[in-house]
Amino acid sequence: MKKWMQLLVLITSITSAGTLLASGGFGEGGESHGSQMPVVNNAKWKSECSSCHMLYHPALLPERSWNKVMAGLDQHFGENASLDTAAHDEIAKFLAENSADKQANRRSNRINQSIPAAATLIRISETPYFVAKHDEVSANTFKRKSIGSPSNCIACHKGAEKGDFSESQVKIPR
Ligand code: HEC
Ligand code: HEC
Repeated sequence: MKKWMQLLVLITSITSAGTLLASGGFGEGGESHGSQMPVVNNAKWKSECSSCHMLYHPALLPERSWNKVMAGLDQHFGENASLDTAAHDEIAKFLAENSADKQANRRSNRINQSIPAAATLIRISETPYFVAKHDEVSANTFKRKSIGSPSNCIACHKGAEKGDFSESQVKIPR
């Protein structure tokens, strides 16, 4: 490639990155078909992964993240959330099969694309997509008694456990 062509490619990529950031990034626009996460069901996942917090839909993180979560349950955010082998393996398989990188819906794709390939995040609330989408929610709001932390999606998104994050359903409690 000629020098000036390389420069042009560079400028073009910088400009589109700039546009992405300036627009708040990661998928603006109204609701469209294919933005909803699919209905998923697994009894073990439901009972074992909802005793300390809300149930996180598997389409919110890529497979490598779920594998890391499941490999570290004995030291899970300061808690011991260990499972017997049968339950562990069943839930790990369920999460992997329904993870963000297996999805066709828009939000899962955006979450997935926002995470650098070299990173394996175990918090949905630390993905660049999440951070960009919540930049107008202050740290103090997240700390309200009725909310607690950014991890408590269901405080503001009542359909969160079903993977419903429609903008029309968002309500920040006092
Ligand atoms: C013994 C209690 C306990 C159990 C059981 C448990 N967790 Fe957690 N989990 C926690 C705590 C504590 C946090 C941190 C919450 C916070 O920071 O507000 C957490 C956070 C998470 C997060 C990150 C949320 C974010 O900020 O995006 C994920 C993902 C998660 N858990 C998945 C699971 C899965 C999957 C299971 C079932 C295999 C599970 N958890 C079972 C205690 C538990
Ligand atoms: C304090 C309330 C609050 C909490 C807690 C919260 N959100 Fe949100 N969320 C919002 C607000 C406000 C928006 C922006 C809605 C808008 O653009 O109209 C938003 C937007 C989103 C969107 C983008 C919807 C779209 O298509 O534009 C997603 C996805 C989302 N949140 C997921 C989550 C997840 C996952 C969690 C938990 C890990 C979470 N949120 C926790 C308030 C919250």
